[in-house]
Amino acid sequence: MRDLFDKIYKDKGPLGKWAEQAEGYFVFPKLEGPISNRMKFRGKEVITWSINDYLGLANHPEVRKVDAEAAAEYGSAYPMGARMMSGHTDLHEKLEQELAAFVNKQAAYLLNFGYQGMVSTIDALVSKSDVIVYDVDAHACIIDGVRLHLGQRFTYKHNDMESIEKNLQRATKICEQTGGGILLISEGVFGMRGEQGKLKEIIELKKKYNFRFFVDDAHGFGTLGATGAGAGEEQGVQDGIDVYFATFAKSLASTGAFIAGDKEIMDYLKYNLRSQMFAKSLQMQLVVGALKRLDMLRTMPELKEKLWENVNALQSGLKQRGFDIGTTQSCVTPVYLQGSIPEAMALVKDLRENHGVFCSIVVYPVIPKGLILLRMIPTATHTMEDIEETLEAFSIIRDRLENGTYKRLSAAVSASFGE
Ligand SMILES: Cc1ncc(COP(=O)(O)O)c(C=O)c1O
Repeated sequence: MRDLFDKIYKDKGPLGKWAEQAEGYFVFPKLEGPISNRMKFRGKEVITWSINDYLGLANHPEVRKVDAEAAAEYGSAYPMGARMMSGHTDLHEKLEQELAAFVNKQAAYLLNFGYQGMVSTIDALVSKSDVIVYDVDAHACIIDGVRLHLGQRFTYKHNDMESIEKNLQRATKICEQTGGGILLISEGVFGMRGEQGKLKEIIELKKKYNFRFFVDDAHGFGTLGATGAGAGEEQGVQDGIDVYFATFAKSLASTGAFIAGDKEIMDYLKYNLRSQMFAKSLQMQLVVGALKRLDMLRTMPELKEKLWENVNALQSGLKQRGFDIGTTQSCVTPVYLQGSIPEAMALVKDLRENHGVFCSIVVYPVIPKGLILLRMIPTATHTMEDIEETLEAFSIIRDRLENGTYKRLSAAVSASFGE
């Protein structure tokens, strides 16, 4: 018999195998000091494009004040139990009511973390006889939620209506035999490529098929729609979303999340959501902080306007310079380049060290081999100067990529990977 750890000693996994070359720089980079549109990385100032703070609330003085006061009043211990037993307060309820009203649903329920909350909500919504139909490009939390499902599940081709319909037909046939129902899951905005889920078209299919629609709107909440209520509001179909999810980790620059929908469904989830029933309630300081942030989201539309001014300047600047930014329909701004992983590493190093631009790099196996994705998240705190400097830097690194500079620079890295 083998030792359980043998496989770990041999194979560190698709990302872990890069640890020696990548850790501390490309992955697990250590950020220093205050983090905003600019920050320090290895002692140098860099323009930051990989921070989850769409509306620039993280360092807003009013937010900082409320966060500090809440921390002074409650510390990080309160409340000291799970919601159902000893972790429930008026403020938790108030936040839920305000969130529900904001996203135009009857009721909401708080989640400690978006990831676990999504897993748990999927788990609670389906039983063995039900069928889940979901986008093949779904976020890991959706995939993990689906993994808990004991019944059938089908992926459809990314945002492909024909494939969605085909899978709904398959699922309908199965449900007619099992007596179950269908849960269809999409993201409001796909976080890597920035496309919006085809919520409107999917909801249109409700006329032909019987299913319930669950939308993970992590990147849409606060950034899309006239009031910032997300991708459903943007596409004019919020009512057709049966369960709406958003995290506080993006637009609200905090921790925590929520689901919203009809009161009866939220009441059911309150009593069946294992990640909330068997885990400590969302901390008071986060609840108080979220109330403040939500209030600012509601009353300061200029934050979203500034965000979009920056998004439009960045995305149109990239397009004017001939960069491929794919099919984004949101703030998420991908830049696609052709190159190997070692070339991508040399390129990102050049960007950070010589041009003071810090953005995330995504490579195979997350995207197809031979592609490099530089993923940029604009925020309301970025300035036109940040954007101009970044565009300039991007033009230079593209030239170097095309003239083989990074291939030469990365020869040693390539050799160590046998490429
Ligand atoms: C689409 C999507 N869903 C869920 C999550 C998880 O949210 P949280 O960070 O609150 O756990 C994320 C965060 O990266 C996300 O992008």
